Parts: sequence; structure tokens; C-alpha cells
Amino acid sequence: MSNNQKDSLFIRAAFSQPTERPPVWMMRQAGRFMKEYWEIKNKYSFLEMCKTPEIAADVTMLPVDLLGIDAAILFSDILVTGEAMGGELSFTQGIGPKYANPVRTQKDVENLTTDVEEKLQYVPDAIKVIQQRLNAKTPLIGFAGAPFTVMSYLVEGGSSKDFKLTKLMIHNQPELAHQLLNKIADVTITYLNMQIDAGVNALQLFDSWALALSWDDYREFSHQYNARIIAGLKRQDLPIISFCKGSSVFAPVMAEAKPDVISVDWNADLLNIKKSIPAGIAVQGNLDPHILYADKKVIRERILRLHDRMKEENGFIFNLGHGIMPDIPFDNVKYAVQVIQNELVNS
Ligand code: CP3
Repeated sequence: MSNNQKDSLFIRAAFSQPTERPPVWMMRQAGRFMKEYWEIKNKYSFLEMCKTPEIAADVTMLPVDLLGIDAAILFSDILVTGEAMGGELSFTQGIGPKYANPVRTQKDVENLTTDVEEKLQYVPDAIKVIQQRLNAKTPLIGFAGAPFTVMSYLVEGGSSKDFKLTKLMIHNQPELAHQLLNKIADVTITYLNMQIDAGVNALQLFDSWALALSWDDYREFSHQYNARIIAGLKRQDLPIISFCKGSSVFAPVMAEAKPDVISVDWNADLLNIKKSIPAGIAVQGNLDPHILYADKKVIRERILRLHDRMKEENGFIFNLGHGIMPDIPFDNVKYAVQVIQNELVNS
């Protein structure tokens, strides 16, 4: 990690060190709310974009160049691990991700490979190009999907509202579910260590849909795998961020896995969450992304309100409670970043 990256607001806040103001980045910051994204997307499929290092780097750089954001995030998707394991993945506009060969039986689970390094080589290749473009300035976040969330896509064959088949497997065939989760966890450790070796400066584990689980099921089918992954990383001086929708409930359990940062959805009061977890674990969040649809006056007020709660705490990274929606006006996102960067001063 370059000294500039190491001393950046983002890395310092992630390690709960004092910062003059909170750093800001936004989940799904490299995406469809930017017309520059569409200029690239109209020429290539989403997976082509992910798998061509120069294009992945171009897209990663959009929010750095156009928003002046405080951290870059690798352009990829959480579902590429499932693809490398044997899932036939496609992304179709208006439909979303699909695995054409869902994983539902013992045989399906056995057929998945954990030998993924070669298939995922395009990711370290992209990271190297991105780091050249970042020129040792802005820190780069790598990421992966957490086992439960990736499992849900593999089992359902795509997105789901209620995770019916996934939860049915967990409840009726817990041993099969554990076999699948173990395989995904092994692959995720390999994949994140590849990203560390290629030079990312931080990692985020996305367990987007953990909120579907009850308390006991969260511990057994999500948390224990996330904890194993975090313990299995060659982390050195590299912070790990743990995200789930549901963190306003699960944060105390998430903290047991010893991430450096917990990324919080917008339901909870962020200061209460911060105070409920051990000192030394930072928080990231938690503006409702819908605020970015609202009038600028409202955007500014809500940013100031959140900062007012958090300004005396070390270890606060400004972000949204979940990703930016594709139809949020670019101008509003840019305005929000400017308010955070120009108006907020930590106590
Ligand atoms: O944050 C970033 O800008 C970096 C890139 C990134 C993407 N996906 C690009 C993407 C990241 C970090 C993700 C993570 C991801 N992917 C998650 C976890 C975060 C979250 O939102 O909870 C999940 C659940 C996915 C799965 C996924 N990928 C879905 C459900 C979809 C389709 C629907 C949707 O919301 O877009 C995708 C496609 C996807 N991933 C796009 C992008 C830019 C859109 C592709 C397109 O242009 O059509």
C-alpha cells in the first residue's frame, strides 16, 4: 500500500484513527446512475466489462474522476465466485442475474469446483491496472459476496424476494446447506487472498441478504462462515469491512468475527450501533439511499444530521445503508459528496 493510500482518510477511519472529516464512498458508486457508465455498457455486456481488465478499470475510475470520491471499489460482481465454481451466470437487462443451472441436490453441490484461481485471474489482472490508474492516491476496495448471499443466488437460480428454496434447504437439508456454504467459503478465502496479493487496500464482504435469516440461522448459516473467511485472510495492514442488510440487528454478532468495520443499513441509529460494538471496530453507513432522490436541501440536512450524531467518534465512514439506485440523479450524488467533503468537520 502506498503511503498516500495508508494515510488516506478512508484507511485511517477504517482503523478507527482520528480524521478531520469522515471519508465518503458509496456502494454501487460505479454504475448505471452515470451516463458515462452507459457509454461503456452500451458497447459490452456486464460480464465482458468485469472480465476485461482495461474496461473494469475504466468503470472503477468513473466515481474517482467524476465525483472525487475518497475510495474506489473494484468493478466486478459478487456472483463471479459462483460462476467460477460452475454456475452458468448471465445478467440480462431488466431481469437481473441468473444461474441457468441452480444448485439444489447433493449432486449439484458435488459438481461445484473449488479450483477457481485460473478462472478468476481476470480480477487480479484488473486490480493491477486499476492501481496504476489510481497512481498511489485513492485507496482501492476489493470485495466478495459472503457465502449465505452467494448460496441464495446459486440455489434460487437468481434474485429472490423471499429466499424460499434457500431457506428450505437450510431447514430440511442443513447438512447439504453446510456442504455448499463450506465450498463457497473456501473459494471466497482463495479469491480474497488473490485480491490482497494483487494489491487492494481494503476488502468488503457483502452479505446483502442476511436479513432474511432468523437470529439462530444467521449464526449457523451466515456468521460462522464470514468469521472463518475473515480469519483466513492474509490481512496484514488491510482493513476488512463486513456488510449486511440486517446489520442493525446482527451487528453484535458480526463484531465477533473481528472485522475492522461494520457497514450498517439505514434502519438503526448509527451512534447506538457504534456504542453497542467493541471499541476499535469502525462503522460505515448509513444514509437511506432514497434520500438522494430528495431535494438538495433535504440531502444536506440529512447528511448534517447523521454527522452531528457521529462527529465525536473515531471510526466513521460515510456511506449509504445500501447501494445507489440506477435512477438517482447524478447531480444529487455529486452534491452529497461535496457536502460531506466541504462542510463536515469532526470534533
Ligand atoms: O459498488 C460498485 O460500484 C462496484 C461494483 C459492484 C457491482 N455489484 C456492479 C454491478 C458491486 C460491489 C456489486 C455487488 C453486488 N452484486 C451485490 C452486493 C451489494 C448489494 O447491492 O447488496 C449484489 C447483491 C449483487 C448481485 C447483482 N448484480 C444483482 C442483483 C444485479 C442486478 C440488479 C441490480 O441491482 O443491478 C447485479 C448487476 C450489477 N452489478 C450491475 C452493476 C453495475 C448492473 C449491471 C448492468 O449494467 O446491467
